[in-house]
Amino acid sequence: MTPGARVQACIELLGQIAAEAQDASAVIDAYFRTRRYAGAGDRRAVSHRVYENLRHRARLDWWIQRTGVALDSTPRTRVLAQMAVYERTSPDQLARLFSGTRHCPPTLNNREQELAESLYGRPPMHIDMPDWVRLEYPSWMGPSLHAIFGRRLELELQALSQTAPVDLRVNTLKATREEVQAMLVGERIEVEPTPLSPIGLRLQSRSRLGGTQAFKRGLFEVQDEGSQLIALLTGVRPGMTVVDYCAGAGGKTLAMAAALSGGGGPRGRLIACDVSRYRMDRMAPRLKRAGADMVRRQVVTARDDSWVKANREMADRVLADVPCTGTGAWRRNLDAKWRFRPDDLEHLTETQHLIMGQAASLVAPKGRLVYATCSLLREENEEQIDWFLRTIPGFTVLSVQDVWAETVGGLPPVEGAFLRLSPASTGTDGFFCAILEKSG
Ligand SMILES: C[S@@+](CC[C@H](N)C(=O)[O-])C[C@H]1O[C@@H](n2cnc3c(N)ncnc32)[C@H](O)[C@@H]1O
Repeated sequence: MTPGARVQACIELLGQIAAEAQDASAVIDAYFRTRRYAGAGDRRAVSHRVYENLRHRARLDWWIQRTGVALDSTPRTRVLAQMAVYERTSPDQLARLFSGTRHCPPTLNNREQELAESLYGRPPMHIDMPDWVRLEYPSWMGPSLHAIFGRRLELELQALSQTAPVDLRVNTLKATREEVQAMLVGERIEVEPTPLSPIGLRLQSRSRLGGTQAFKRGLFEVQDEGSQLIALLTGVRPGMTVVDYCAGAGGKTLAMAAALSGGGGPRGRLIACDVSRYRMDRMAPRLKRAGADMVRRQVVTARDDSWVKANREMADRVLADVPCTGTGAWRRNLDAKWRFRPDDLEHLTETQHLIMGQAASLVAPKGRLVYATCSLLREENEEQIDWFLRTIPGFTVLSVQDVWAETVGGLPPVEGAFLRLSPASTGTDGFFCAILEKSG
């Protein structure tokens, strides 16, 4: 691809990411699948520019406004601003890249030229930028984020803007952590045990994992350490009946399946539910590869589900890993940061109520409901647990310290009645977890 064609690819991709409300990585994959002429170097350069554009969206929009040029923030103006400010591309160079010739972006109009001239050489940061611009978060989330982090806000947001490590969860159905580490090191892939999860390994540098023997034999799955800890905190043991109520494509289902079958004891039952048949279908090959054949998949409906009604009080453990704003996973999903609006948060908290109601009805006496999000916002976390305790009788909160000691072992890395993980405090994605026990 020519340099101009790479710029045009970024503009197109940013437009698609905004329009399709899909993961940036999925959109980029699909884009390059249909453009075989693009090489690995093109793909790397284009993805890097797209991710940097998403990473600095608030500052780019602030600079576009600041110039006073009557232009909206669009994928095109944002790329122009990014190249002028972050890549220090001069107005002349920009005019050559925006040449209007084959595969290149259309030529710059007068206002765009003015924008390029006004922004060239500006520093990325400016003293007049408000916190939300400087730290790159949606302004409407400011009060919530300040309430949670207080003086740690800057530290936490900086950690959330770094690249996340790649963690693996060892499939203990098939191998030990030491065995998988030795196999990967044998294939020149450096991994170290994760600091908190006893079943995790952390990649020490970017490596291709798909071709390794350990991957082909289903000995590990890529899964953030925080996610592994949530699955461990469910306290699933051999012989139990377990429901993974928002199972998605099965990340935590697989981890719980391994715990269910440990030690050659009774196998137990695990039912993975989700409203999305598409996600449940994506789980099937992962279950097969992992040898988790005790898992049954069940598509449910958002309200008054007949399967839920027919299976009241059936489970020793129910995990409700609810859909949320994903604020804790901003390191991985930069696009999600800018996608949500206050209305969406309202809609999500209502969905979370519905799910908690259905999931709670599945819990057997003395059983546990584990509520988890990858959100940092109190509205989706502590406030939801308050709502639950006010609305649904018969449950008490178990101390995460006690459950951690009995499941993960030792003491949790953070204090509090609930588990709150974050990149700055625990080096994991941001997660929240509450464990609720049903009375006997
Ligand atoms: C955070 S994701 C789950 C991720 C998954 N547990 C994992 O570890 O990979 C939330 C899931 O909830 C599902 N969901 C949304 N509304 C639901 C509902 N009313 N009942 C059950 N699942 C729902 C979504 O389809 C999505 O797959």
